[in-house]
Amino acid sequence: MSITTKAAITGIGAYVPDYVLTNKELEKLVDTNDAWITERTGIKERRILKGEGLGTSFMGVRAVQDLLRKTKTDPADIDLLICATTTPDFVFPATANLIASEVGAVNSFSYDMQAACSGFLYALTAGSQFIETGKYKKVVVVGADKMSSIIDYQDRATCIIFGDGAGAVLLEPNTEGFGILDAVLQSDGAGWVHLHQKAGGSRRPPSIETVQAREHYVYQEGAAVFKHAVKRMAEVSQQIMQRNHLQGSDVAWLNPHQANKRIVDATANAMNLSLDKVMMTIEKYGNTTNGTLPLNFAYYEKSLRKGDNIILAAFGGGFTWGSVYVKWAYNPS
Ligand code: UT7
Repeated sequence: MSITTKAAITGIGAYVPDYVLTNKELEKLVDTNDAWITERTGIKERRILKGEGLGTSFMGVRAVQDLLRKTKTDPADIDLLICATTTPDFVFPATANLIASEVGAVNSFSYDMQAACSGFLYALTAGSQFIETGKYKKVVVVGADKMSSIIDYQDRATCIIFGDGAGAVLLEPNTEGFGILDAVLQSDGAGWVHLHQKAGGSRRPPSIETVQAREHYVYQEGAAVFKHAVKRMAEVSQQIMQRNHLQGSDVAWLNPHQANKRIVDATANAMNLSLDKVMMTIEKYGNTTNGTLPLNFAYYEKSLRKGDNIILAAFGGGFTWGSVYVKWAYNPS
């Protein structure tokens, strides 16, 4: 019988900045209130990276260092580092290059993955393929965003949602049936009109006019995105369960993107899953874009058991969306 190699998640690291931006503080910046934000999104507070000259890599480095410390991994043994981010330190070089260099991953190659809020799922799936070929033994996948760098704190429709944070996982070969077992990834570029950053790219390069028009911030048509997110996250989660013959009772955890508690609840409902099986950190961290899924893993790590069936699901700008099926590979130490 042939032995199939899968990519198992063998460790998690995380970093969130110290500064806590509460709903109460947002009340002083825009016309909003704690009750509205809590009821419509589930968010109470989010973290903000303060400090001149600190970008997404600052958080990514700390998440990877946490991962290396916990897994006792020598950075020189890392073969590949992928960073999923929508707020890179620079347009180029890749934030992954900066992180890899700073953590001492001197023998790795590294690149960024841009798929907005689904980026971590895309990167996890890409990383798993490198392991499955048998060519690579240690792949680090980072999800990190400094959303505060592209948020307009005069726009109450967006500034209440987003926060900063980073997480990282280590992927290693597994031949015992644990790891990333399946993935459904999708995209539809027609969705760009509902969620994008108007200027700063090659279509509309930065200028005095673009800055004055506040076009370097997240533009989101919230209700339209909400509708698509509910539909698509439910679809892909159901699809991945069906093709892996999983009932709601077989699933130990749903790890969903943290955009809005109402979207998460709808996804869990479509999967026939009770809410105590749903990882939720939105109350503390808000929507950290590529950070949400690994931050969820970090927060719930002590509750996860070897053999747990975990479904990840995300939806975001692009549009991009997807679901990944993971059989958890280790018990808490
Ligand atoms: O992670 C990437 C993908 N992003 C998402 O998945 C986000 C999806 N969208 C959402 O989560 C929600 O659409 C939002 C949280 C962004 C907005 O919630 P909503 O329930 O869809 O509100 P809405 O945009 O339909 O606005 C309803 C009302 C409006 O007032 P009127 O026109 O009914 O008088 C808004 O002006 O709520 C008002 N409103 C607010 N009121 C207080 C919008 N934002 C706020 C606010 N505080 N912060």
